[in-house]
Amino acid sequence: MTAGDHARDLFAVQGLGVIVTGGASGIGLGYLEALAGRGARVTMFDIDPQRVQAEVGRLRLAGLDVAGEALDVTDHAALDAAVDRVVRGYGKLDVMFANAGIDSGPGFIGGWAGEDRPRVPEGALERYTDERWNRVIEVNLNGVFATVRAAARHMKPNRGGRIIITTSLASRKVEPAIGSAYLAAKAGAAHFMHAAALELGGFGITVNAIAPGFIVTNIGGGHAHAAQVQQRMARAIPLGRVGFPADLDGLAVFLASAASSYITGQEIVIDGGWGLG
Ligand SMILES: NC(=O)c1ccc[n+]([C@@H]2O[C@H](COP(=O)([O-])OP(=O)(O)OC[C@H]3O[C@@H](n4cnc5c(N)ncnc54)[C@H](O)[C@@H]3O)[C@@H](O)[C@H]2O)c1
Repeated sequence: MTAGDHARDLFAVQGLGVIVTGGASGIGLGYLEALAGRGARVTMFDIDPQRVQAEVGRLRLAGLDVAGEALDVTDHAALDAAVDRVVRGYGKLDVMFANAGIDSGPGFIGGWAGEDRPRVPEGALERYTDERWNRVIEVNLNGVFATVRAAARHMKPNRGGRIIITTSLASRKVEPAIGSAYLAAKAGAAHFMHAAALELGGFGITVNAIAPGFIVTNIGGGHAHAAQVQQRMARAIPLGRVGFPADLDGLAVFLASAASSYITGQEIVIDGGWGLG
């Protein structure tokens, strides 16, 4: 075996059975394309049926082994049933990306780096509604719990598997433009990842998290697509630009493949240095 063969084997994901929640857009779609583009069989679960249909159609036309189901990760019974169906088709579940997430509306300070940053009355704590708080926790924390639980149920008997949760730089750093439910949910998801890694390690299952910084996706109404926003943000990011889903390809493949087989319980920040200060 040559050194080149070894490197290829180390990062191989060919034939793996993979599920990505929130896989029809942004970061989840990026994970899906990175894995399916290297020969994995990947199913997206997403609450948006139109996007599921459009993206599955586009990727199948490109020759990728991709499927999709419309579902809401807050419906735990539907999630369990869908995971069971997919795993029956694949034979086993190798990789689960618990990625679905929503933004939380405004925080108590407006704007982003490099702007005037006024206080935002509707983002103030006393204006935070139960409905807004609960929905963010339901999707970004409880949805992660239910997704990881479903994966563990299938992976434990096989004594192996990779679980990857999308947390956020916001799990460790308070950003006042982001509503506090999001910060709490992501910090909860990060610590839940530690607990799951500790529990599942004895079954050969690794559990890690990817914590992105500022990535251009459709979250929060897609405000990150605006050139002006990207230019301002770029000034606050040491690598001098905002991130795109493709910037996460390498880390997604690394955490899904044998290259990361002795890494568990880790949250890896991928933010161009934004979190450094
Ligand atoms: N974009 C960023 O800068 C950034 C930074 C840190 C973390 N994240 C996290 O990355 C993950 C992906 O977000 P994104 O930025 O790609 O946003 P996005 O809106 O582009 O994609 C999120 C996808 O999740 C789906 N989704 C939302 N609620 C769902 C539910 N209840 N059930 C199933 N699917 C659901 C949406 O339909 C969408 O397709 C989220 O967990 C988000 O918190 C994003």
